[in-house]
Amino acid sequence: MKLPNYEEERLRTDKEVEYVYLNDEEYSNFLKDKKYYLKTYGCQMNVHDSEELAAHLENMGATRTEVLEDSDIAILNTCAVRENAHDKVFGYLGRCKHKKEQDKDFMICICGCMAQEESVVDEIKTKHPYVDIVFGTHNIHELPNLIVEHKNKQDIEVYSKEGDVYENVPYKRDSKISAWVNIMYGCDKFCTYCIVPYTRGKQRSRKSKDIMHEVEDLISKGYKEITLLGQNVNAYGKDMDCEVSFAELLEMVAKSGIERLRFVTSHPWDFTDEMIDVIAKYDNIMPYIHLPLQAGSSRILKLMGRKYTKEEYLELFNKIKERIPGCAITTDIIVGFPNESDEDFKETLDVVNTCKYDSAFTFIYSPRVGTPAAKMKDSISKEVKEARLQELNKLVNKYSNEKNQTYLNKVVKVLVTEKSQKGEGKVCGYTEDMKLVNVEAPIDTIGKIVDVLITDAKSFSLDGKLV
Ligand code: SAH
Ligand code: SF4
Ligand code: F3S
Repeated sequence: MKLPNYEEERLRTDKEVEYVYLNDEEYSNFLKDKKYYLKTYGCQMNVHDSEELAAHLENMGATRTEVLEDSDIAILNTCAVRENAHDKVFGYLGRCKHKKEQDKDFMICICGCMAQEESVVDEIKTKHPYVDIVFGTHNIHELPNLIVEHKNKQDIEVYSKEGDVYENVPYKRDSKISAWVNIMYGCDKFCTYCIVPYTRGKQRSRKSKDIMHEVEDLISKGYKEITLLGQNVNAYGKDMDCEVSFAELLEMVAKSGIERLRFVTSHPWDFTDEMIDVIAKYDNIMPYIHLPLQAGSSRILKLMGRKYTKEEYLELFNKIKERIPGCAITTDIIVGFPNESDEDFKETLDVVNTCKYDSAFTFIYSPRVGTPAAKMKDSISKEVKEARLQELNKLVNKYSNEKNQTYLNKVVKVLVTEKSQKGEGKVCGYTEDMKLVNVEAPIDTIGKIVDVLITDAKSFSLDGKLV
């Protein structure tokens, strides 16, 4: 197993990118009167990368459409974390191909984590020659050039090695209330099942001064909530001699006065007491932690390369619950890791019974080419894995539902972010501990933190009214 090597020297220069199109008329009008369609798969990292892609396209004059058939350029920002992500993208590509047959000027671009997979690039080259541009996670900033220089052939521009940390990146943010802020890129953990360290490269932390600069800019623009983003946020700084630790960074951002501060994702192994103290100390750091378990059996955790045992995880869990009253904890769990026995699986259920998570994302293990786990022989049948997932989901849902019931008739603070899809006269937003609430309230509550009386509790959301 490849372990992170924090001693190794990193090549980084923190480049400021100069976007030619901002000063150049040819660039800034290149997509004038054109429409783009942008589809995002995968995690928050991709969602935030799409905000960068949208900024580039709009700075070149394009406007967004939510209808593929109406667009002049389509961008699929892909995920590689599980096999079904791959199937979804190639399925969707069929629809793009159909459009291209009717409109030969229609431009199809594929980017994101799948584009970093050699096998996928080969598949696009041989079976999907109609795809115009393929670019990877390390060269998103080159999209304007790739578009301008594209000449009716397939352009593939993917770097296998991560490069600099770029500053001065433009974002067209989806929300004017809640913003993502990258604090690091990549991941050094190399969990044996996971493809992310290969598709996103080595961990590269942004300098704290650059992060603070972005945070202050967002506050001045009226943002109410910031979520610090990274695959492993609490390993922040370890790749640059811990200039600032994650706990220190969290405190710096909390002191900036942002109304709500969140972060995803924390790895249990990097979770320090200092972090817990800082979260407990600042009212604007939300009492919500996503703490991926992955498996309840220490034997499987070792095979996964997670670097903690079941007992260590539970000790951390209990410490957080004790020191941060009312802190909600959610998790990720994989079932069916190679040779996971009934006994191993039972230990996962035991941990769920102990932790009674607020909610959990659950997955069947999916072998990813190039990862160590993909080489492990596996004797467990698909049926057994599916049955385990079902049993796990039943238990997880039982606890989420029980937790949601405890909010009935209570008043909670909700940051209203948008109109609700649950009917007219309703808006929605999240509580401090990350429960989705649909609220009967006027539209002008959007962007405000309001007191809400919870009137109904469902499995995945709450209903309420203004008090
Ligand atoms: N950096 C985050 C997770 C990124 S991927 C973390 O460490 O928590 C999101 C989730 O996908 C993981 O937590 C894991 O539960 C799941 N996952 C990753 N690789 C997988 C695989 N090969 N098969 C099934 N699930 C996987
Ligand atoms: Fe993947 Fe997360 Fe492990 Fe990194 S820490 S290898 S992103 S599961
Ligand atoms: Fe998927 Fe890449 Fe995120 S593989 S989960 S989009 S980092």
